[in-house]
Amino acid sequence: MTPHRRLGVLTSGGDCPGLNAVLRGLTCRATQLEWEVVGFHQGFEGLLEGGSHEILTLERTSGILPLGGTLLGTTSKGHFIAKVGGGSRTMVPQHVMAQARATLDSLGISALITIGGDGSLTTAQQLHEAGFRVVGVPKTIDNDLEATSMTFGFDSAVACVSEALDRLRTTATSHSRVLVIEVMGRHAGWIALHGGLAGGADIILLPEIPFDFAKIADAIQKRDASAQTSSLVVVAEGARPVHGSEYVLGKGAGEYKLGGAGHAVASEIAQRTGKETRTCVLGHLQRGGTPTHLDRILGLRFGVKAAELVEHAEFGQMVSCQNDEITSVPIADAVSRLHLVSPQSQMVQTARAIGISFGD
Ligand code: F6P
Repeated sequence: MTPHRRLGVLTSGGDCPGLNAVLRGLTCRATQLEWEVVGFHQGFEGLLEGGSHEILTLERTSGILPLGGTLLGTTSKGHFIAKVGGGSRTMVPQHVMAQARATLDSLGISALITIGGDGSLTTAQQLHEAGFRVVGVPKTIDNDLEATSMTFGFDSAVACVSEALDRLRTTATSHSRVLVIEVMGRHAGWIALHGGLAGGADIILLPEIPFDFAKIADAIQKRDASAQTSSLVVVAEGARPVHGSEYVLGKGAGEYKLGGAGHAVASEIAQRTGKETRTCVLGHLQRGGTPTHLDRILGLRFGVKAAELVEHAEFGQMVSCQNDEITSVPIADAVSRLHLVSPQSQMVQTARAIGISFGD
């Protein structure tokens, strides 16, 4: 093997089903193209002094398709944070960049594949602008990245929400209760919308369509009046009332941690309708477990394409899915703004057409 044909790869930000499929796809294709693959541990932190790495081989990545999480470990904290608060940008310090560059040079790595979501790809873009030879792979259960029609992990998260709703429906019906389920997605309502539709939700609250507590109560009372005495309400963690703001659980070094919307909505429903109401916060169940077949296949295809982008020296590019073809776009296009649900979209109209309320 030619010694200088060494590429690095890391997984960064929240983990997500399908990450291991990407690692498998890219290791297979890179090996075919005669690149050696160095996997950095714990995201970008692996590039710093004290960080660790391993060689990814065909053997090491064999049999990992059904595994959730990431073989390499990840972090959404650390020294490479590029997004803070409600999504504002911040710069990775120069001395951190310098350390990362020194690590890559000392290992003879000439290209770095970064698999991450909005925050991590914003870091990747900064590295690219600083002269690193970077290729991006979009990863997020939130499906909130521009410039790709799909990200792996989303389908698995939606499957989890849909299964949870199937379970909640039976207990809600038995007790004539309202069951409120809070789901992830950060500032985007994709998981809530798709999961809610697939799982037969009666009310879906999205960040993109601010809700009115009175309208939610009214929808539940109308259902009661027509003998539908149980209701399932899906609340995106980023949902907010018309005159309110997102429910924030905590503020750390990076982006705000969202949470609390489900409990707030449930308590208002109970007060306004007098109905027994319970809350289920689905949380990290949505990120764990085995990926769906769709996420495995998308992950494999993204991994193969990432290795090919390195081979063709197409740096600053991100793998992307467009019309079911895997192609590439500038990383900058993917992180320029968030991909959000349009309130006018056909999907929202379809939901309304089957009687789902958005609390507006
Ligand atoms: O971006 C993925 C995501 O799961 C969001 O949906 C959620 O808001 C956030 O990460 C949770 O982050 P953490 O794992 O740090 O609690």
